[in-house]
Amino acid sequence: MRRVLVAGNWKMNTGREQALELASGLVEQCGEPGTVDVMIAPPFVWLEAVAAVVGGTAVQLAAQNAWCEAPGAFTGEVALEMVAEAGCDTVILGHSERRQLFGDTDELVGRKVAAARLAGLGVILCVGETREQRESDETDAVLTRQLLAGLEAIDGEMAAGLVVAYEPVWAIGTGLVATTDQAESAHAHLRKELALRYNSDVADATRILYGGSVKPDNAADLMGRPNVDGALVGGASLSVESFVAIIKAATGV
Ligand code: PGA
Repeated sequence: MRRVLVAGNWKMNTGREQALELASGLVEQCGEPGTVDVMIAPPFVWLEAVAAVVGGTAVQLAAQNAWCEAPGAFTGEVALEMVAEAGCDTVILGHSERRQLFGDTDELVGRKVAAARLAGLGVILCVGETREQRESDETDAVLTRQLLAGLEAIDGEMAAGLVVAYEPVWAIGTGLVATTDQAESAHAHLRKELALRYNSDVADATRILYGGSVKPDNAADLMGRPNVDGALVGGASLSVESFVAIIKAATGV
């Protein structure tokens, strides 16, 4: 059985005080190990302070991105070793905002995924189609391309523990959520591709999260589908109340 994972992507939000408040509110309500894995991804600059709050609790910590080279002359970037030392055990890679706004190509995402696994970090690899791609029936092809490029250098052993997030670009931050059928179909497609790339054990063990306007009122339906193993939550992870409501919705599925 795959454990459900609810991860909060804070993006470029929160000041220091709000970050610490969010983290401690979450620890209060979800700090004990439960049936659902809970993770938050604050901005880099708050990672260490948030790590001090969530350390030793069931709330896991992730970075939203990192650079794929060893520490050195890369002005403005953050190395995987650094996010690990700051207390993260996971890094989100290939988020559509990175792909669309910051030039993270399929190839670069693949290099980052490989470097992260070599650095001993867990990875949430994000994939997803734009509205135009969905309308022209390219969804499955885009998902396959992004998934395989992201996993280019990852063998079956390194794929253990990998998490994939299906995030249709048109549903991110828009209030437009994929129907549960659209989500289930994309997740089933990704799992089939994982089985082809590796084997059915890896495909069955890999958690595939849905992301894109997940809210307390749609979370249970989405996560109730057989191939939806949790959620990657943006906007609704910025309040303890709504994030905890989503976690509670996940507990019931
Ligand atoms: P959203 O963002 O929940 O605000 O749509 C999801 C994401 O981008 O991870």
